[in-house]
Amino acid sequence: MSDTPSGPAPRTSTGGSLGVLISGRGSNLQALIRAVDDGRLDARIAVVISNRPEAPGLEHARSSGIETLVVDHRQFKSRHEFDRTLATELKSRSVALVCLAGFMRLVGAELLHAFPNAILNVHPSLLPAFPGVNAQQQALDHGVKVSGATVHVVTPELDAGPIIVQACVPVRADDTVDSLSARILVEEHRIYPEAVRIMLTGGWRVDGRRLTIAP
Ligand code: GRF
Repeated sequence: MSDTPSGPAPRTSTGGSLGVLISGRGSNLQALIRAVDDGRLDARIAVVISNRPEAPGLEHARSSGIETLVVDHRQFKSRHEFDRTLATELKSRSVALVCLAGFMRLVGAELLHAFPNAILNVHPSLLPAFPGVNAQQQALDHGVKVSGATVHVVTPELDAGPIIVQACVPVRADDTVDSLSARILVEEHRIYPEAVRIMLTGGWRVDGRRLTIAP
């Protein structure tokens, strides 16, 4: 589909409210918290929501004084209900942008419609190569010589939305999934706050697959 709405214009200072969705470790959440704390990102993290009560990332949020919420997908009869609850919780906190940070659930229509062009995801490959799970293993199996990280807008198709920022890393002959993942993660942590800043600042537009940022 083309001519999806462009972002909030004109360019403004940001200061928008973020909702971060996690399922586990939360290192990208930590990167966003750091970026806000040290002034690289003019935003406020209004809430961190995990679908898993035991996600270690929840503790990072709590220790930074950020509100946390567990919305356990197993407590819901349908995905629609789960999605609707997420949308309601995020909207009630006036969240402008939703950041998926290791959130291991597919985002359904209810949430996408509630936040058009306002849900971001970070993925550990240079999309469109290696979407889905185990992206680093896929890259090693394929024998690529470079891989990287992508932050993109979330659309109904998995890991296929408009790309906001990408960064490359070399793939070395002796890499393991762990060593490659660690190298990619450094770039994820660098580009996620940058992508959030771009989306909050506005002046961007989406034409089909392309997200362009006004010079
Ligand atoms: C990251 O590699 C991210 O790209 C992927 O899931 C992982 C989450 O890590 N979507 P963390 O929970 O942010 O540490």
